[in-house]
Amino acid sequence: MRIASYGLLAAAVGSAAALPLESRQASGNGTIQCAPIPSPPPTWQQLPQQSSLPDPFLPLRYTTTDNAGGSSTFARDVMTGKGKNRVQTREEWYQCRQPEIVRMLQEYQYGYYPDHSQEKVEATRSGNTLNIAVTAGGKTGRFRATITLPSGASAAKPAPVVINIGGMQNQPYLGAGIAIAQFDYTSVAPDSNSKSGAFWSIYNGQDIGVLTAWAWGFHRTLDAINMTVPEIDSNRVGVTGCSRLGKAALAAGLFDSRITLTMPMSSGVQGLGPYRYYTMSGQGENLENSKSGAGWWSNSKLGTFVNHAENLPYDAHTIAAAIAPRALVIDQGTGDQFVNSKGTATVIYPAAKLVYDWLGAGDRIAISVRSGGHCDMSGFTSILPYVQKIFFGTPTTKDYNSLGTYGSPVTTAFPWGTAVPKAT
Ligand SMILES: *[C@@H]1O[C@H](CO)[C@@H](O)[C@H](O)[C@H]1NC(C)=O
Ligand SMILES: *[C@@H]1O[C@H](CO)[C@@H](O)[C@H](O)[C@H]1NC(C)=O
Repeated sequence: MRIASYGLLAAAVGSAAALPLESRQASGNGTIQCAPIPSPPPTWQQLPQQSSLPDPFLPLRYTTTDNAGGSSTFARDVMTGKGKNRVQTREEWYQCRQPEIVRMLQEYQYGYYPDHSQEKVEATRSGNTLNIAVTAGGKTGRFRATITLPSGASAAKPAPVVINIGGMQNQPYLGAGIAIAQFDYTSVAPDSNSKSGAFWSIYNGQDIGVLTAWAWGFHRTLDAINMTVPEIDSNRVGVTGCSRLGKAALAAGLFDSRITLTMPMSSGVQGLGPYRYYTMSGQGENLENSKSGAGWWSNSKLGTFVNHAENLPYDAHTIAAAIAPRALVIDQGTGDQFVNSKGTATVIYPAAKLVYDWLGAGDRIAISVRSGGHCDMSGFTSILPYVQKIFFGTPTTKDYNSLGTYGSPVTTAFPWGTAVPKAT
């Protein structure tokens, strides 16, 4: 687990009225002052209702109705990026806000990712099968992964890998010199409330969503590859899956900084579909129907926001932005209304790209809007040139900033976009 840990050192600075800041380690030898992460975290009732995408630069502590002079001005000021105490520098983003987002997403959506430092991972390889055993707290969970190597991969010339669940288009990737790994996600955690499988044999009883369990499966598969497959370069790693498994791939990219490239396909809400603007596509996967249809994907806290999704202090663009500066490529099909491809393309992607651009990593977020429907396998060939660019530095002339037939971003959805902080 590579989530930054928090120093809970409250520095005694400022007047009695001002909130104390927390000192955290900066990138050099110094410390940086961060807005403290509210504890306990605010409930939906304590969070302001926001009809447009929340300002990603505003710390949770200041996501309040009184930040900009009272609830009547909240919409105008805070939603347009005029709230007080926004993050101002890239250093503050990486040391303060990015870790806060990862913590906030665990609190409100994913459940808390297990402490990997307490786990022991053992792996053996038999041909192309990896047998993985993870032990923590005296309990052990076991599952298997399979690998397929491209021709020519060797310990001297290791290949990058895409780890997938649910299947992908293998041949074009193998032909491009990219290895494929896959694990049976149902043996890590079934897509249901039944708490069986490797993850739950260790963590049963914890309020963690199944998307997080599957993300953990990706990471433990990478551990096993790193231990037993010298023909694979564990420093060039993609993660993918489609639909609910695309939501899981997004979580896998979020929770482990070893993931070089996150590749969510047709991922929808709890992936890169917006909670707000779910009516854009005309069909509308939203918090309400996803939580009632498959409540186990997320923790129980997300359920308290049912019918109050506009009180969530984040949206899908916040999840994407927290992956920066690591690479993210998004697949959406224009024939796929249910997951709101249009909302992902015209609202979420451009809002997240503003943050990537601000961080100087604008070419590390990409979208591919293709024809075809939900989980159409052609999505994998559509994104392949971008994958090759990330893994091999191969240039591509394909425009991965194009929204295709969706045209232009809906800028009214992110009114703070015209007020990004001056990056220093
Ligand atoms: C940190 O401190 C050490 C020892 O004083 C020094 O050698 C190093 O250059 C410093 N690094 C930075 C980034 O300031
Ligand atoms: C692979 O394992 C080595 C040795 O334990 C470790 O130093 C390295 O960080 C690991 N790499 C990845 C990508 O996990």
